[in-house]
Amino acid sequence: MSKKIIVANWKALPASLAEAEDIVEKIDEYIHGLDGVALFDLVICPPTQYREEVARMLSEGSLAQIASLGAQDVELEHADALEKLGVRYVIIGHSDRRWPSSAKASAGESNEVVNEKLKAVLRAGLLPIVCFGERNREGVWRDELAVQIKATFAGLTPGQVNQCLIAYEPVWAISTNPDAKPDTPASAVQSMGLIREVLADNFDVSASTFLYGGSVTPTNAADFLQRSEISGVLVGGASVRPEDFCKILTIAAS
Ligand code: PGA
Repeated sequence: MSKKIIVANWKALPASLAEAEDIVEKIDEYIHGLDGVALFDLVICPPTQYREEVARMLSEGSLAQIASLGAQDVELEHADALEKLGVRYVIIGHSDRRWPSSAKASAGESNEVVNEKLKAVLRAGLLPIVCFGERNREGVWRDELAVQIKATFAGLTPGQVNQCLIAYEPVWAISTNPDAKPDTPASAVQSMGLIREVLADNFDVSASTFLYGGSVTPTNAADFLQRSEISGVLVGGASVRPEDFCKILTIAAS
């Protein structure tokens, strides 16, 4: 079985550098005594203001073996700079950017902008984590998801699409939304199947690496991670709660 991938997307949290350091220290201590760390890769995506310190901490201790630094976004002209800062993975097209709650729907990133960012990240030799997801399950949501995928990957070669980790994150399932609840593993796998079909038909890509994101917690992480179609999870809220996050790591290690 291939390694699972656990991505911590801290978003705008935690509130202070001291807290950020505390989270990383706790994870480091925890995995020091954890059997099975070879079974997963860990990616931590802090907000930019903590990036330098988190990069330093990830390069030391137990984390140095399994953890990589991720960015939550990229500015078009700064992809090369990210690489120099030690960033290996970049989240692109997160729903917070496609549909920021503070803005009207049209004010978020379009598929075209996401596509430009994706190309910049690939040019810089970084690994994109490309997010897709429907805002709700009404009407022609499957068609809309297909449009999102085609436009986001437009102009990429099969080899480039293959380098991407694909995060299926139904927007309604993300914990910051009112009434959020996680998707079920079976339904997430169905949506991944749809994404797979679009990639096969339009980009001649047959295999892809899929992550699930949206209200992942210690309670449901095992259900997602034990599915062979799901290579990992993208964890938001629970990733800044060290106790919860370490429980998710224990699941990934088992
Ligand atoms: P959540 O966030 O785990 O808090 O739902 C996931 C994400 O926004 O990537």
